[in-house]
Amino acid sequence: MVANRLPVDRVTNPDGTQGFRRSPGGLVTALEPIMAASDGAWVGWHGGIDEELESFDKDDIHLVPVPLNEDDLELYYEGFSNSTLWPLYHDVIVPPAYHRTWWDRYKKINQRFAEAVLRIAAPNATVWVHDYQLQLVPRLLRLARPDLKIGFFLHIPFPAASLFSQLPWRRQILEGLAGADLVGFQRETDATNFLRCLRRFTDYQTKGHEATPRPEHDLQNVCRADAHPISIDYEQIKRLSRDPQIIARAAQIRHELGNPKTIMLGVDRLDYTKGIRHRLKTYGELLNDKQLKAGEVCLIQVASPSRENVETYMELRDQVELMVGQITGQFDTLSHTTLRYLHHSYPLKEMIALYLAADVLLVTALRDGMNLVAKEYVAAHQDGRGVLVLSEFTGAADQLTQSVLVNPHDIDGMKAKIMQAVNMPEAEQAKRMKRMNHHLEEYDVARWSHRFLTELAQINTNSIPVVPAASGS
Ligand code: G6P
Repeated sequence: MVANRLPVDRVTNPDGTQGFRRSPGGLVTALEPIMAASDGAWVGWHGGIDEELESFDKDDIHLVPVPLNEDDLELYYEGFSNSTLWPLYHDVIVPPAYHRTWWDRYKKINQRFAEAVLRIAAPNATVWVHDYQLQLVPRLLRLARPDLKIGFFLHIPFPAASLFSQLPWRRQILEGLAGADLVGFQRETDATNFLRCLRRFTDYQTKGHEATPRPEHDLQNVCRADAHPISIDYEQIKRLSRDPQIIARAAQIRHELGNPKTIMLGVDRLDYTKGIRHRLKTYGELLNDKQLKAGEVCLIQVASPSRENVETYMELRDQVELMVGQITGQFDTLSHTTLRYLHHSYPLKEMIALYLAADVLLVTALRDGMNLVAKEYVAAHQDGRGVLVLSEFTGAADQLTQSVLVNPHDIDGMKAKIMQAVNMPEAEQAKRMKRMNHHLEEYDVARWSHRFLTELAQINTNSIPVVPAASGS
């Protein structure tokens, strides 16, 4: 397994000592249970700056750290990964920036990750590379080691050709991915977008889900692209949601908020793709119109810190915190809060208690590869209570069809849908929850990885590299 992040993230404790906490984001949520149940190694960055660590085992997972220094963080992580690719792949919600120095470092770091894999991969090993930070790694591995089975999974959307065409290095990124035997995407449209881009911007030809390069290409391999929607560790969430301590904690949370009639919840990394401002605007208007009554409702918004050195994230934080202040200032009383904003991340058990405490979960992302929070909320509601309000622009919307679907750009539409959720009869809540749980029970994360790896294993690897690994292209 190769991903930019390991499942653990380096932190400095208040007393100055170094420790680890769980890494943020959906990728780690999904991959951790799979790796805990398998023998492989996980190659990734450990969250420290300029710190070389030996391989180590944590919670039954063998971790192989890849170091990043301050410049790497600025140019490869905050720069090319999170200020070029992330906004470009999320419908250019904020404008992507294109800098050659960032691209140069992205190439260099992808090479570093590939080398770390090459040091440990056994003959004929299966290597599964993850996400937008490492799109050049499949080709680098294939050029160096034709014996490897190489899979790649993109956790975020793949943009339409009309947007992707902006990228000055579009051909290199596409060829980097096409070095894999199998490239997996969250949705069918992502796979189609990728294949269309390959056709348009490289010398690969495509037929159905397969791409092959023209004979003069330096790498002769077949690359397959398919949708493999990711999921959650369903049994784990189900088990935790029945834990008496967690149930008691959920009751305590409601009690501490003054037992309001309705608790709504938002859980996101503080990211502009998540539609937090649209959600707060809608909520503020519902309070203003008195469709929701201050004193009877509370929105808990967990916004976990993310990419805090990136300018667009700093601006978003300012905007969100201004809106939070406006809402609480206008609608709170001495005895009731209408909005509890928490700029923290919490352990899984506390998250399950929050899911259980919430009558409605609001997922209003403007674009999201999948959104595992939506799936976790459903899995936590074995009691059949609760309503999921879910943006159409998430991968999860394809599967959680019994949710209340919303277009986050349509504020009036969202207001109506949120009120529908708040007033939904219990019998209907239970019916919808049951159907969605039925789906998740079958399509859990183990099934996702099994399906991907089975498809990968069935592909007949047939690649003949004719030139050594190119670094300058
Ligand atoms: C998303 C991405 C992951 C990333 C995570 C957290 O889930 O798909 O690749 O790890 O966000 O973001 P960070 O920048 O903190 O790794």
